[in-house]
This record gives sequence, structure tokens and C-alpha cells, in this order.
Amino acid sequence: LILLAVCLAAGKGTRLYPMTKPVCKPLLPVYDKPLIYYPIAILMQAGISEIMIIVPPGETPTFRALLGRGEQYGLHIEYAEQPVARGIADALLIGEKFVGNDRVCLVLGDNIFYAPTLATTLKRAAANDRGSTVFGYWVEDPRPFGVVEFDKDGRAISIEEKPEHPKSNYIVPGLYFYTSQALSIAAGLAPSARGELEITDVNLEYLRRDSLRVIPLEDNYVWLDAGSADSLLTAAQTIHALQHGGRYVGCIEECAFRQGWITEGQLRALGQPMAMTAYGQYLLSIQL
Ligand code: G1P
Repeated sequence: LILLAVCLAAGKGTRLYPMTKPVCKPLLPVYDKPLIYYPIAILMQAGISEIMIIVPPGETPTFRALLGRGEQYGLHIEYAEQPVARGIADALLIGEKFVGNDRVCLVLGDNIFYAPTLATTLKRAAANDRGSTVFGYWVEDPRPFGVVEFDKDGRAISIEEKPEHPKSNYIVPGLYFYTSQALSIAAGLAPSARGELEITDVNLEYLRRDSLRVIPLEDNYVWLDAGSADSLLTAAQTIHALQHGGRYVGCIEECAFRQGWITEGQLRALGQPMAMTAYGQYLLSIQL
């Protein structure tokens, strides 16, 4: 069974107005690269090269101008537009034909992850073909998110979307590894009170079927969503600090090279036109 990916990057980003009036959120910069680079790099580190990117209406040409069909990164990228923001689970329905009977990794276009051990965690999740895998991440205020509760043995026992009284501080970030059943589960969902097809309802159904693994992310994990001006700035500052400490994040060209999908020559060719930037310099300096 192949593992494909759907990246949902269709949010208008109204919480970022006026920045997102002419430019949609996933294309905004987070320090030195567009926001969408970060989730795409996550997929690549999980070993996934077949990706459908779901973009806002009319935005396919702008995304294509940035990423093309992905072959320069050893990827195969398709684009689809989401006519109305109907919720995260809608991405599974839009991706139905693309995914077919394969497993699917769904990633949100505004989620950023970093950890020294990230690649190992991602490969573990990608390798599990018996059930689905999501993650739990400790935050101070979990109320705006999907919140997962664990029992004393560390098993997930409940997930609630934006609860007023959260049962834990662990939120489910926007990175989900699903079996092919996710498509039929999503197809059977009814919209929630906020009128959306909730990804939490998909996760709950897997939980009911005893087929959901929730991996808690250790303290050394950084998870950021970049949905507001403050979180966008925090994200940029975090990436800046990491990279100045010598740890590059979200570098899709590097991911392609480390996966063995492009040669050193191809990597240098990607860096050369950007040699006037620190980013380009970095691409030119990467060794195996
Ligand atoms: C969505 C999901 C939520 C998840 C979050 C991660 O929230 O509904 O379960 O924890 O993404 O970013 P939304 O962006 O719809 O508020």
C-alpha cells in the first residue's frame, strides 16, 4: 500500500487581514521561506512524494508558480481548489480520487513542526499500516484546538473539538496518518455546529473502532500554527533562532536531497539562482 498526502492549504487567512487580501496565507513568509514549505517538508521527511495541495479558489496558478509539479524536488504535486471552506475533513473528500484505495497523510498548510527526532517519528507513523496515527502536543491553553485525553496507561480515551473545559493540555496538531477508511468515514460526517466537517469527528470514529494511535510528542518538539499575526511572528522568530543555531527547518530542497530523490548537482542547481540569499548559500553548502 502506498502512502499519499493531502495538504490542506485553502484557508483564506481572514485572521491575517490585511496581509492575506492579495496573498493567501500558505504563501506568506515565515522568516525565509513561504509557510507552505514547512508542511511539505514534513511530508517529504515522512517519505511521501505524491502530494495533492488543496488551495483557495483561483489560486492554483500562484501555487504552481512557486512549486510547479514538484519534479525539481522529486515530487509529484497535484492541485485542487476548495470552493468553500467546509472544514478539514472536506480535504479527504476533495482528495478522494487522488488517494483511491491508498493510505493518506493529511497535513494542514499552516502547521509547523520541528524536533531533532522528527524524521524518526514521521517514519514510524508512516510505517504503521494497520491503523491511523495522530499526535498529542502539550500546550498551555488547549481550548482553540482538538483536545485528546489519555488514561493512566497512556491510551487515548477521548477527543473533543474546542472544548470549553478541556480534559487535558494535549492538543491534536494538524498532521494525521490515516488508513484508506478515512475517506468513507469523512463521507459519512455531518457538519458540526460551526458548519464544518470536523477532523476531530474522523479521529473519534477511528478511536471508536479502536484503530487510532495517538503519539505524544516529547518536550523537545516545537509545534506552531501560523494563523494570526502573533503566531506568524512567533513562528518566524522560532525558525530564525533554530536556523541560526545551525538547524534548518522546512527546507524542501534539502529534504529532496536527503531522501535521495535529487542528486547533489540538482540541489546545487536549485541553490544557484538564490545564491544572493542566506537560504541559497545554505543550499549550496549542504553535504550528505
Ligand atoms: C483545526 C482542528 C483542530 C486542530 C487544529 C490544529 O482547528 O479542527 O482539531 O487541533 O486545526 O491546527 P481550526 O484550525 O479549524 O480551528
